[in-house]
Amino acid sequence: NTATLSAQTNPERVISRHIYGHFAEHLGRSIYGGFYVGEDNKKIPNTAGVRNDVVDALKKLKVPNLRWPGGCFADTYHWKDGIGPKENRPTIVNTWWGNVTENNSFGTHDFLNMCELLGTEPYLAGNMASGTVQELMDWVQYVNFEGESPMSKLRKENGREKPWNVKFWGVGNEAWGCGGNMTPDYYANEYRKYATFMAGWTNENNLFRIASGANSADYNWTETLMKNIPHNMLGGVALHHYAVIDWAKKGPSKDFTEQHYFATMKSALFMEELVNKHSAIMDKYDPKKTVALVVDEWGGWYEVEPGTNPGFLYQQNTMRDAMIAGVTLNIFNNHSDRIRMANLAQAINVLQAVILTDEEKMLLTPTYHVMEMYNVHQDAFYLPLNLKTVDYTMGNEKLPAVSGSASKDKNGVTHITLVNIDPKKGQDVTVTIDGAKFKSVGGRVLASKNIQDHNTFDKPNNITPTNFKGANLKGNNLTVKLPACSVVVLELK
Ligand code: AHR
Repeated sequence: NTATLSAQTNPERVISRHIYGHFAEHLGRSIYGGFYVGEDNKKIPNTAGVRNDVVDALKKLKVPNLRWPGGCFADTYHWKDGIGPKENRPTIVNTWWGNVTENNSFGTHDFLNMCELLGTEPYLAGNMASGTVQELMDWVQYVNFEGESPMSKLRKENGREKPWNVKFWGVGNEAWGCGGNMTPDYYANEYRKYATFMAGWTNENNLFRIASGANSADYNWTETLMKNIPHNMLGGVALHHYAVIDWAKKGPSKDFTEQHYFATMKSALFMEELVNKHSAIMDKYDPKKTVALVVDEWGGWYEVEPGTNPGFLYQQNTMRDAMIAGVTLNIFNNHSDRIRMANLAQAINVLQAVILTDEEKMLLTPTYHVMEMYNVHQDAFYLPLNLKTVDYTMGNEKLPAVSGSASKDKNGVTHITLVNIDPKKGQDVTVTIDGAKFKSVGGRVLASKNIQDHNTFDKPNNITPTNFKGANLKGNNLTVKLPACSVVVLELK
């Protein structure tokens, strides 16, 4: 495996920190039991009901934005049910996820205040399918309007004087499916209408509206949106793609075979083709790249853990998930001229989670560690890493064994992240450095013997990053010995 690193920065090419966003839906134990355990909980230390252990862990990740309240749930959610005294709030039946009845005790104030606690920017997903224009307009007014108005008055009565100034807004979710089964033409028109009335409650340039995007390879969806929505009312177009083997037979989350593993990695690496093709369509209508591609749902999706509610999407998280995270984030970094925001699905106890909880216990998954290792790329200058790699093969099929990306941070430190998805073979990578002289190389590695290895509540530190000793720097030549199934972050000074 060989690579060339062009170490000269281009001031125009920054990897937006928002690529490292997360997602918190009212789904299973994501909010209730995951983020939020209630103000009166005496067993689990919390701040206004939000778990302190979760806040500490997420702060270390440097979560740039958090998407809420869905997902599919967003298009059934009526925000006014989640404000005011908790004992007066009506219930809602979560028809998408297990038909459970929830009491709306975690609402707008709870979420936005939690974002402040985490130091993260909220990304609110607006209800466009079962809600109204007025309802979404009122939500924008409630959270963002500084002046005197019916909604800002209500906000103040509910204890919040200053607006939160929420910048990121989704206009519906998966409008092609759970968000109303719309056609792209119909959705584009609806988007124009909703987006029109969202404006005016805040500094116009400050509102970043995101259109519900394509399901994976539905290129016609992106084309229709880019053609029919005026770009001055479009901050980003979304894209959803999950690493899934087969929607009818997703396979287990931890006791999987190497065949399952290969198929999952194939689906994860398909992201490269998706991004190239959706970006090419966007380039046609927006050559200056003013509209961002926002991959606001990505990650591995398997069968739920045996014995758990099928509607709760609770799955274990193994070294396979670390590989998905590593290769996907490398793809995002390398396409950061167009991809300027993304959200891993989902943060806690749902799908490819970074945190799992069981009552008062909490663990950090291998995916958490990859997100933490990669956070050095947040808002750093992108550096091209031209990689030629051998294949990881299965039968007649092949996948690139090694993937990578690089950046230089604001302090002048260069980082390279490399992933070797081959579960059996280590890989040597020789990097030729162009345009800079470095004196030292250090790094960290996340690796484990088996792709099925994971952290448990009894052994939460089974998999954690360790110091990496496999990199050697001689002049402008860097050699790296990647262990089998590993993620490495290198620091060059
Ligand atoms: O992340 C789980 C679900 O997947 C979301 O609610 C939906 O948008 C997608 O289909």
